[in-house]
Amino acid sequence: MCGIIGVLGEHQAAPLMVEALKRLEYRGYDSAGIATVHEGRLDRRRAVGKLVNLQDLLVDSPLAGRAGIGHTRWATHGAPTVSNAHPHAAGPVAVVHNGIIENFRELRAELSALGVNFESETDTETVAQLVAHHLRQGKSPAEAAQATFGRLEGAFALALLFDGEEDLLIAARLGSPLAVGHGEGEMFVGSDAIALAPLTDRVTYLDEGDWAVVTRAGVQVYDKTNAPVERPVKRIAIDAARIEKGGHRHFMAKEIAEQPTVLGEMLGHYLDASGDIHFPDALPDFGTVDRLVMVACGTAFYACQTAKYWFEQLAGLPVEIDIASEFRYRQPPIGANTAALFVSQSGETADTLAALRHCKGRASHILSVVNVPESSIARESDLALPIRAGVEVGVASTKAFTCQLGVLALLAVRAAEARGRLDAAGVAEKIGMLRSVPGLMNLTLGLEPEIERLAGGLAEARDILFLGRGPMYPLALEGALKLKEISYIHAEGYASGELKHGPIALIDQAVPVIVFAPTDGLFDKTVSNMQEVMARHGQVLLITDKAGAARAAEGTWETLVMPTCDPLFAPIVYALPAQLLAYYTALAKGTDVDQPRNLAKSVTVE
Ligand code: M6R
Repeated sequence: MCGIIGVLGEHQAAPLMVEALKRLEYRGYDSAGIATVHEGRLDRRRAVGKLVNLQDLLVDSPLAGRAGIGHTRWATHGAPTVSNAHPHAAGPVAVVHNGIIENFRELRAELSALGVNFESETDTETVAQLVAHHLRQGKSPAEAAQATFGRLEGAFALALLFDGEEDLLIAARLGSPLAVGHGEGEMFVGSDAIALAPLTDRVTYLDEGDWAVVTRAGVQVYDKTNAPVERPVKRIAIDAARIEKGGHRHFMAKEIAEQPTVLGEMLGHYLDASGDIHFPDALPDFGTVDRLVMVACGTAFYACQTAKYWFEQLAGLPVEIDIASEFRYRQPPIGANTAALFVSQSGETADTLAALRHCKGRASHILSVVNVPESSIARESDLALPIRAGVEVGVASTKAFTCQLGVLALLAVRAAEARGRLDAAGVAEKIGMLRSVPGLMNLTLGLEPEIERLAGGLAEARDILFLGRGPMYPLALEGALKLKEISYIHAEGYASGELKHGPIALIDQAVPVIVFAPTDGLFDKTVSNMQEVMARHGQVLLITDKAGAARAAEGTWETLVMPTCDPLFAPIVYALPAQLLAYYTALAKGTDVDQPRNLAKSVTVE
């Protein structure tokens, strides 16, 4: 969702904030804006659309000042217009906000009754107007902020800047992440460590309900009861190279290409030279767990859906999976011996976080598999296992997906061992298979020119279907999600066997059907379903291995021959053609690959 930066600097704040907003633009790009205080006067600039429009505005109309706040928006309340863009100002205060103020209608009505006029349709302006109201009552900025925060319901990360105050930022968080950065005689506020990384490597993460008074001399944090508290200063290590495109045209292309490396590094982290898996001691004993509940959203959910096959087949462990936005509200019974596992790249997805909180006190263990180790989901888990994919900037998740699958595969092998389903030789065999995956990914990346050519044949389609069976079924869903989110082509994933129960009515010669079918125990059944499609003039792109191509390529529109891999972990390797097909189809269509319309990387609202 929206990105926030705040600067109390030694030098001009605007250039620093624009650079930080570039790093945060993946969180939202409907509009952007900054405000500064210069010679005691608060001023702001805002522009609709990508950050470049704000940069152009600042060329014509620069903004001086060493203190400032900035924002890149993913619209929730009110269309992407200048008047709805942040920072929102009310008299002597300007506010940037990530999240949703759920009681803004009541607050707005209250303030309107007092004669306050609103200039935007946003929930955020209510915060600015409420602070301004308290300032008019004679409160100091900190008192006005405190009184306002106490009235807000919902989720928020906020940064406030005040007229006449060139050494003051006030920040607050509830439900949305916010970090304070410590420089040398400078202080910063940011939505995440990526925003702050080039500015400082010393960061204080605010806890739920915290608010903070920031000056160049330091920060005073208050907890939700308004008591002063100490929060630790942590060193962050974000490799700047990991947030650059590194010669690639898009972050997504870079992140696809990085997969063999980051997956190999992740395996190296959890495995020793002899192939023993090393998880922290806090990992539950899967031998005594009755059931595993796995919850996530989007691509992370498809990682859970894939892993369900592994936990059930390898470990005989009953697994329930659900999307986070449904899980919490259906109030599922959770037995005392149930472990709950949450998967999230960002670790900040509001629905997943809410589902985790629902399981607290109910499940025997709260585990998470995350990419951002300091995220809310990681911090609120009994044990967080990092996927170590490095910063993922492209809105379409790629390397996080395959690294999530890698960690989940290791967990499934560990569970199989703990439940007596795999002996030492069995474990070694599975680990050997996993260790071969980075090499197989490298071979698959060698097919990129071929995949680019195939994507050329998809770009004109109106609808595309993806089919798979067994662990390839979630990959069919993931392939369809990837394609629709960046190419805007309507795509659906189906279990191959389900097609004849309805979706086959969609098939005609204009509908490409992409079939993931490594030679496995289900291959012949998948091929039968593929034949049913071809009999109805569907254009099949078969993605299989050499043996599969020899048996079933005849009559297909195209066949992509993948390196031969063990079927169990094939979804990790076959994810690459799914990602590359989406990428090159989007390129052929000329869409914005890294920042597709209507989307944001991190979804911190429910
Ligand atoms: O950060 P999370 O993994 O919790 O995000 C979950 C989804 O929002 C995310 O996977 C989304 O579906 C991606 N855009 C898919 O590419």
